[in-house]
Amino acid sequence: MNNFTHSIPTKVYFGKGQIKHLAELKESGSKVLLVYGGGSIKKNGLYNKVYSILRTAGLRIYELPGVEPNPRIESVREGVKICKDNKVNMVLAVGGGSVIDAAKVIAGGALYGGDPWSLVIHPRYILKALPIYTVLTLAATGSEMDSFAVISDLSKHEKWGTGSPLFKPVMSICDPEYTFSVSPKQTAAGTADIMSHTFENYFTNVEGGYLQARFCEGVLKTCIKYGPIAIAEPDNYDARANLMWASSNAINGLLSDGAEVAWCVHPMEHELSAYYDITHGEGLAILTPHWMEFALNEGTAAKFAEYGRNVWGIAGEDDMEVAKAAIERTREFFVNELHIPATLREVGIEDEKYFEEMAAKAAEGSKGSFVPLEKDDIVAIYRAAL
Ligand code: NZQ
Ligand code: ZN
Repeated sequence: MNNFTHSIPTKVYFGKGQIKHLAELKESGSKVLLVYGGGSIKKNGLYNKVYSILRTAGLRIYELPGVEPNPRIESVREGVKICKDNKVNMVLAVGGGSVIDAAKVIAGGALYGGDPWSLVIHPRYILKALPIYTVLTLAATGSEMDSFAVISDLSKHEKWGTGSPLFKPVMSICDPEYTFSVSPKQTAAGTADIMSHTFENYFTNVEGGYLQARFCEGVLKTCIKYGPIAIAEPDNYDARANLMWASSNAINGLLSDGAEVAWCVHPMEHELSAYYDITHGEGLAILTPHWMEFALNEGTAAKFAEYGRNVWGIAGEDDMEVAKAAIERTREFFVNELHIPATLREVGIEDEKYFEEMAAKAAEGSKGSFVPLEKDDIVAIYRAAL
């Protein structure tokens, strides 16, 4: 196991009624930028609740509505301008990963002299940030408890992750009831995203991370149990609660610290959403079984078999057989139980036009992953997924 520093400064208020803690925002000043998406929080009543708590606490509220899924740099620039023009003291994101990610880069951009796109491309430029608060409405990215943000400039087909310890939220309100209104499609995509974060950490070459691997298996089993329940029964509290807590823990360092490895399916997917604006979790679910098939060989069969035995309960002595069965179970789960499309064509990617250039960028981003991936390997994975 590698040395590591485990630091999660985010105070998480988890469960029913925790929204009342939003009144604590006044500890960071008197002016807040409220960032949200395309309207889901107005439909489900959360907006009114948040607004009323902030006003009662004496806060002056500025608003940035309309943050897009796969958040755009243009929205970030708009938020930075509001913060600078009004000397805003803190940023509150109410939404899913896209809203939270936009809020993070706005918080950094508000205290940065240049264009916020520089903070996306050069994380080392993030030297200051306004305090970030979140109310999570979708269990998926774990942005509510991590240091990352992913922002797109679709005019250039660019989507990049950035990050800084300063991007870890000061406080996150995680009330599973606010996810009851999430659609089956987004519930499935979120579940696949949590699973993918876990796979990215589980398939590591670092030896001795026994505990981290068992944590990973626990998160995977939680998603496998509760993803389909949350789709069938959207207001099943325990299903929503378990998925929400799984989302935070899949990416906050618990699974990776001491067993670090470069991620690879994520860089491949980020290219798909940069070029085709598809839903992140769907892209991951489509690519993952193909990446697993690519990564399976005599050297890795034992790890895939460990996954098959411990997560899916597949019996058998032969590692290769168990590994193959585990990959097939993964594919079936995404398609038959989460009802996620199986192919890129089904999410609107019709041809191979951009595969070469996407693969070149994804190969850069995945250097040092569990199994080495060259540009041509990634093109082959995209083709198989088409
Ligand atoms: O915009 P609104 O109206 O809020 O609707 C959203 C959006 O259409 C809707 N939604 C969210 N909460 C809802 C709801 N609908 C009904 N009821 C609710 N309670 O869901 C749609 C998708 O929202 P989005 O925030 O885009 O989804 P997600 O949380 O999956 O975030 C995806 C983004 O996060 C990035 C992805 O690349 C993508 O850009 N990621 C961020 C990471 C991070 N910060 O650590 C890591 C991830 O790997 C990922 O790359
Ligand atoms: Zn992800």
